[in-house]
Amino acid sequence: MAVEKTLSIIKPDGVAKNIIGKIISRFESQGFCIAAMRMQKLSLQEAEGFYAEHRERAFFADLVKYMTSGPVILMVLEGEDAVAKNREIMGATDPKKAAEGTLRRDFADSIEANVVHGSDSPQSACREVSYFFRKSEILRPCCGGQCGCKS
Ligand code: CMP
Repeated sequence: MAVEKTLSIIKPDGVAKNIIGKIISRFESQGFCIAAMRMQKLSLQEAEGFYAEHRERAFFADLVKYMTSGPVILMVLEGEDAVAKNREIMGATDPKKAAEGTLRRDFADSIEANVVHGSDSPQSACREVSYFFRKSEILRPCCGGQCGCKS
């Protein structure tokens, strides 16, 4: 299995619920290394650009409004098979469908306020990591530069 990077976001509801530490603890205890991290309030433009693939969806305007409603935690996680493993830890998008022991099952209130975001493929991980982080901001490249995106 390859060592990969993936983008993780603790969404405004996760930050507001004071469960930042609990979420990060799950990532660390599952073997992830946090390569970069910061708290930020997304602008409208940043949220729209990040979720551009959903622009035509009925929930797009609400999603952008929600993602800009409060600060988020942006993280680059690194580890073996990081993209798939992060999605396993998060659980299904809709918390009602998420498996027991997943972050969304344990902490999320709705399909929109679902506590965390994670890249859905290695390709989107590359786009999403570089959307929010310059290379110089990835201060702890845990794989020693052996993993990651081409450009
Ligand atoms: P996320 O993993 O961040 O990727 C896209 C987000 O859109 C998703 O989590 C949800 O928060 C949101 N989303 C997806 N489907 C719906 C839906 N049917 N209704 C409202 N929000 C949705």
